[in-house]
Amino acid sequence: MNYLFSITFLVYFLSLSFPSNSERCNPQDKKVLLKIKQDLNNPYHLASWNPDTDCCDWYVVDCDPKTNRINALTVFQANISGQIPAAVGDLPYLENLVFRHITNITGQIPSAIGKLSRLTLVRISYTNITGPVPSFFSKLKALTYLDLSFNQLSGSIPPSLSLLPNLQALHLDRNRLTGMIPESFGAFAGSSPPDLYLSHNQLTGSVPKSLGNMNFTRIDLSRNQLQGDISFLFGKTKALENADFSRNLFEFDITKLEFPESLIALDWNHNKLQGNVPVALTTLGNLQQFNVSYNRLCGQIPVGGNLQSFTYAEYFHNRCLCGAPLPAC
Ligand SMILES: *[C@@H]1O[C@H](CO)[C@@H](O)[C@H](O)[C@H]1NC(C)=O
Ligand SMILES: *[C@@H]1O[C@H](CO)[C@@H](O)[C@H](O)[C@H]1NC(C)=O
Ligand SMILES: *[C@@H]1O[C@H](CO)[C@@H](O)[C@H](O)[C@H]1NC(C)=O
Ligand SMILES: *[C@@H]1O[C@H](CO)[C@@H](O)[C@H](O)[C@H]1NC(C)=O
Ligand SMILES: *[C@@H]1O[C@H](CO)[C@@H](O)[C@H](O)[C@H]1NC(C)=O
Repeated sequence: MNYLFSITFLVYFLSLSFPSNSERCNPQDKKVLLKIKQDLNNPYHLASWNPDTDCCDWYVVDCDPKTNRINALTVFQANISGQIPAAVGDLPYLENLVFRHITNITGQIPSAIGKLSRLTLVRISYTNITGPVPSFFSKLKALTYLDLSFNQLSGSIPPSLSLLPNLQALHLDRNRLTGMIPESFGAFAGSSPPDLYLSHNQLTGSVPKSLGNMNFTRIDLSRNQLQGDISFLFGKTKALENADFSRNLFEFDITKLEFPESLIALDWNHNKLQGNVPVALTTLGNLQQFNVSYNRLCGQIPVGGNLQSFTYAEYFHNRCLCGAPLPAC
């Protein structure tokens, strides 16, 4: 009995003395994480990143349960000053990378991220990063979700992003992007195009006709300086649910456009649209949001469907639009 007790005690004692025996954390990953912490100026947010503990237990990281390699680094709502460390590129098993709502992250997106071929989700958003949208993202074939919104990115949109075969959503909104929407965005490699969010930038030119080949479900091009005709984005056989084209310079006759039954929201406010509100909208049972205010429309608003459930503010400030909910013609 005494002997057994001693053995038990000894095993207990050993487990205390050599905690590393049970540590899951990969030593190389730990080294890289500590470098990242240092490069971010040892922020309070990463206080749990203590070299004496198992890095799989640290805050804002995850280890893959099979390989015990770091597969997620998700920094959210933190008070951190610095740049995104290039050392992030030395976490080869990373699948999710998030830097979001960080007080003072500046500098560019480091090219080292281009080494991380397992990435499926990248979200660098609500930071003060500058520089271009890097084209190396097009090499990360596993990406399903790329969100670089609410930053200070500039330059044009890399056409090669259309090569991503698994992309389900692309958020480049709320930056300072210039130039045209790439022609290649009419040929996304996947079986269906990603939800496309390009709003609040300084994009110019016409939307390439090629985008008519894509069956977008959600598309937001609002608050740019896009011009011309986008009638090719509409039609009975499209999958469109949410579409925001407001505050651009679009100019074409919308009277005869047709729409899919799936359409839920369509915002066209502040453009130069001509013709009348399309009669085809009266057949849509799912339409919950609609706005054509501040355009150049004329004629009696078609009666039916949900069109009279919208208010004055969704129709006002056109050339000579009339009828409910506007004053009678
Ligand atoms: C953020 O951190 C800086 C420096 O560490 C500190 O001076 C500041 O008060 C912190 N701000 C907030 C909102 O915690
Ligand atoms: C933001 O970070 C830069 C450099 O990383 C630093 O010089 C500056 O003081 C920081 N600003 C704030 C408000 O923390
Ligand atoms: C970006 O920088 C500006 C000016 O320094 C600051 O007011 C703003 O809070 C910062 N925004 C983010 C998301 O870091
Ligand atoms: C678009 O997608 C919808 C819904 O998935 C489908 O019914 C329709 O046939 C597609 N249209 C085209 C033009 O590919
Ligand atoms: C429609 O757009 C106008 C002009 O921007 C705006 O005043 C109005 O609030 C919008 N309606 C809705 C429901 O958002």
